[in-house]
Amino acid sequence: MAPKYQFSLYFCFFILSIWANQSSGRKLHETSMSEMHEQWMAQHGRVYKDAAEKEQRLKIFKENVEFIHSFNNAGEKPYKLGINEFVDLTNEEFRTTRNGFRASMVRPMRTTSFMYDNVTVVPSAMDWRKKGAVTPIKNQGQCGSCWAFSAVAATEGITQLTTGKLISLSEQELVDCDTGGEDEGCWGGFMDQAFDFIQHNKGLTTEANYPYKGVGGTCNRKKSTNHAADINGHEDVPANSEKALLQAVANQPVSVAIDASGSAFQFYSSGVFTGDCGTELDHGVTAIGYGITTNGTKYWLVKNSWGTGWGEEGYIRMQRDVDAAGGLCGIAMSASYPTA
Ligand SMILES: *[C@@H]1O[C@H](CO)[C@@H](O)[C@H](O)[C@H]1NC(C)=O
Ligand SMILES: *[C@@H]1O[C@H](CO)[C@@H](O)[C@H](O)[C@H]1NC(C)=O
Repeated sequence: MAPKYQFSLYFCFFILSIWANQSSGRKLHETSMSEMHEQWMAQHGRVYKDAAEKEQRLKIFKENVEFIHSFNNAGEKPYKLGINEFVDLTNEEFRTTRNGFRASMVRPMRTTSFMYDNVTVVPSAMDWRKKGAVTPIKNQGQCGSCWAFSAVAATEGITQLTTGKLISLSEQELVDCDTGGEDEGCWGGFMDQAFDFIQHNKGLTTEANYPYKGVGGTCNRKKSTNHAADINGHEDVPANSEKALLQAVANQPVSVAIDASGSAFQFYSSGVFTGDCGTELDHGVTAIGYGITTNGTKYWLVKNSWGTGWGEEGYIRMQRDVDAAGGLCGIAMSASYPTA
């Protein structure tokens, strides 16, 4: 993002907040909103098919900007919202195009052993990025392939921990080739099924060899047999226990499913996310650490796959050790990790 633009965006916000408070400023407010939309379109390379669509998008943009603005002004939560690339999407459009954990389906239940069951000592904070086990933030685009990104991030983690090599692995291989079971490319899937695929395929190739396209395609068998990393299987973290999740995340990056459906999640920009959110799991992400703020708020450090423009450079800190057994947004309900 060009610094020059960032300045003008803040400037717009500034004048907006003054004009919005003056009843006579209504017209100016509308003007600045459409100018802001124009600038935002340029920044994100957004093109609409005609004037009607642009008008409709401007309306959504305006509602979302007002929502973000009043949320931040209220200052009732320890996190902030921001104007990101999703600001011209209704919450419903956002949910249908950016998530992809198959919440509507009952997760195939399996009982697995839990190798971290007897872990009693964990560090007070963990950040797998600092240990070199996390690749840069990726972007799933308008494809419900979060499950693939989540499974790949956990696989990249265990691979680095066992081999010492951080290798960016292929989500597209999962999207194109893991189609025999419950996983359906851009239409959603499960991390557990992805781990099964990687295990039975005897590995996964690199991002460079089989790059991400953001649309489903035919499986390239040749590339898919060129393995760069493999796993032995996977285990589920005992459900509804943030304690068990902590035992696992202290030892490796872990795939987690969350309810990411709310507007606050859509526009999250910084701080410790505390909800509101439900537990209708619809998004797969990766817990890559945990910690505690200077204020004493405990959080999970979570890697998302919506690019670096969302959240804290693509990451979110989500409140940890909440009253609900399933954790905030259901983060402890359906966690799993690959085994080496
Ligand atoms: C943390 O404490 C600082 C200083 O007391 C305060 O300004 C800030 O709002 C607090 N943040 C949270 C998340 O409570
Ligand atoms: C944990 O400890 C118990 C008791 O010693 C043992 O039976 C069990 O196999 C251990 N679990 C794991 C995963 O090592």
